[in-house]
Amino acid sequence: MRPYIVAGNWKMHMDPESGRALASEIAGELRRQPSANGVQTVLCPPFLTLPAVHEAIAGSGIGLGAQNLYPQDSGAFTGEVGPGMLTAVGCTHVILGHSERRQYFNESDEFINAKARKALAHGLHPIVCIGETLEQRESGVTESVIDTQLRGALTGISPDDMRSIILAYEPIWAIGTGRTATPEQAQEVHVFIRTLLAELHGGEIAGDIVIQYGGSVKADNAAELFAQPDVDGGLIGGASLKADQFLAIIRAAEASA
Ligand code: PGA
Repeated sequence: MRPYIVAGNWKMHMDPESGRALASEIAGELRRQPSANGVQTVLCPPFLTLPAVHEAIAGSGIGLGAQNLYPQDSGAFTGEVGPGMLTAVGCTHVILGHSERRQYFNESDEFINAKARKALAHGLHPIVCIGETLEQRESGVTESVIDTQLRGALTGISPDDMRSIILAYEPIWAIGTGRTATPEQAQEVHVFIRTLLAELHGGEIAGDIVIQYGGSVKADNAAELFAQPDVDGGLIGGASLKADQFLAIIRAAEASA
């Protein structure tokens, strides 16, 4: 059975000091009462806050994720951060292709694919984000958008490496808007994604891949989303910045697992 993974995407919040405090609070609670039922937690702070969070979560079982990487080992790429630098500060995961990166930094499926391959080559688990805009949903092209993004992001990735990938379905209209996909809407797209994965890589691998839902997941709607059979946890933005809310979401995943 695949695990549930709850990841906190802190976006451009939390300097090292406040990040350390937040991570310590979450880690403290998970050391006191470790996650039941195989639920995994990952914290994804901004680059500069990674070392402080790495220290704060030591021995708690929490994974550490970056929010981006540049798909080269090193070189003249001013302002960029490579995968080896992320593993050197303790990263286990990396968010790739978040809709904010696609929207504000024009990231293409091809670029996201290069990042995913590079992340895998360095032993990182990519959390690959896909999702449609409101306009696309309303014009009935959600499935073709997801199809294109998924095929594009996963091009050339071997079946073995597929097992290290986590997908996050994040309908853009639900991100930071307080508007959440209904559990049925989420389940419907997750099934579509899993069916496509089965077509690309076979049913066994498709059945093992974690598909998170992201978009205004809160303590009070997490349980109904996680109760859907193909929703395997969440990528949490706003609600991951408050320890009590994030912990409640983790506990909701444990109850569904
Ligand atoms: P949100 O963000 O939970 O604040 O909607 C989710 C995300 O962007 O990953």
